[in-house]
Amino acid sequence: MLKNSTLLLFLSLGLLSCKKSETRDCDDAISLYSNSSFPIGVAIESYDMLDGTRNKEIIDRQFNSFTPENIFKPNSLHPEENTFNWPEADQMLDYALSQNKRFHGHTLLWHNQLPLWMENFQGNSAEWEAMLKTHIQTICHHFKGKVKAWDVLNEAFNEDGSLRNSIWKQHIGASYIEKAFVFAHEADPEAILFYNDFNLALNDKKRDAVVSLIRNLKQRNIPIHGIGLQMHISIYYPSNVVIASAMKEFYQLGLKVHLSELDISLNPRGLDIELTDKLLQKQAQKMYSVSLLYQQIPKAYQYGITFWGHSDVHSWIPSFFGREDYPLLFDANYKAKPMYCKFLESL
Ligand code: G3I
Repeated sequence: MLKNSTLLLFLSLGLLSCKKSETRDCDDAISLYSNSSFPIGVAIESYDMLDGTRNKEIIDRQFNSFTPENIFKPNSLHPEENTFNWPEADQMLDYALSQNKRFHGHTLLWHNQLPLWMENFQGNSAEWEAMLKTHIQTICHHFKGKVKAWDVLNEAFNEDGSLRNSIWKQHIGASYIEKAFVFAHEADPEAILFYNDFNLALNDKKRDAVVSLIRNLKQRNIPIHGIGLQMHISIYYPSNVVIASAMKEFYQLGLKVHLSELDISLNPRGLDIELTDKLLQKQAQKMYSVSLLYQQIPKAYQYGITFWGHSDVHSWIPSFFGREDYPLLFDANYKAKPMYCKFLESL
């Protein structure tokens, strides 16, 4: 059952969308984060920090939390069994901290972007566990006190709610999950530890599986503090009701909620599309709704909203899915889109 306050919010979202079919132009010389009561983040690559570029200008001005899009993943940070690759990661982190940005570590474990040596590692389950521990703890120790939150584990579930048959599950068993969180906590007891996944609003089978995992971890005092709802969504789905109830389900478990990889596809079915103002307005309206819904969750659980990039020109979606799309706040010429203006208006 929707609570009265949630119902009122949906009614007002509806009224607002009737009244304001057009999004006003807005001034992107304003800063999103300085108008916001919660952190606003962006995924960045090393080239985003190059002096004199529009990328740098945008990430510095608009966002106060950075997530490394790729260079903190296992294949980049831990390319050989006995080699960790710190310089590029340290440079990004030091830059972020020099600009007073929060830095969100992504990601200690995944089934993707693993180094070959790790995929081909030979050993019994105790040796796999020792390797996992060294991987996690060497990284957490290195960045201790600077990276204050980590996605410990990324995308461990299949869409049907079963546990993904990753190398970790194959060689250590399902307990690799709790072990990963314990290892990270031992290395840095102050760090906020997240589980991060996609489709957790859209797909209730997958969400149920993650909720029951987290409930189980919490009952056994395994240190887990936050959920990353990736929010690779579209103008068509998931509905606002579904997004609101997913956020609620997780904060009621006592987890901080991170909308961790937000982008809003205009073309999820990969059709030949024409980029119309109507589509951009729909995208803006979806952004507005998601932001208002996020602000309805209790403050203590608002870890922040992070966009998976800032400009359409760098989004992962067109190349990954081989389709035309425009999912982010700025267009390919770095001009603020209606999505940006409506987001600003919602803050
Ligand atoms: O590093 C190589 C580089 O050496 C080479 O020249 C270049 C040529 O294509 O490829 C580079 O690697 C690419 C890497 O991004 C860094 O740019 C990979 O091919 C490419 O597959 C990789 O894509 C990343 C993807 O994760 C990998 O699955 C995307 O940028 C990144 O946005 C995406 O992020 C993930 C999150 O971590 C987890 N959630 C889903 C999200 C979207 O897939």
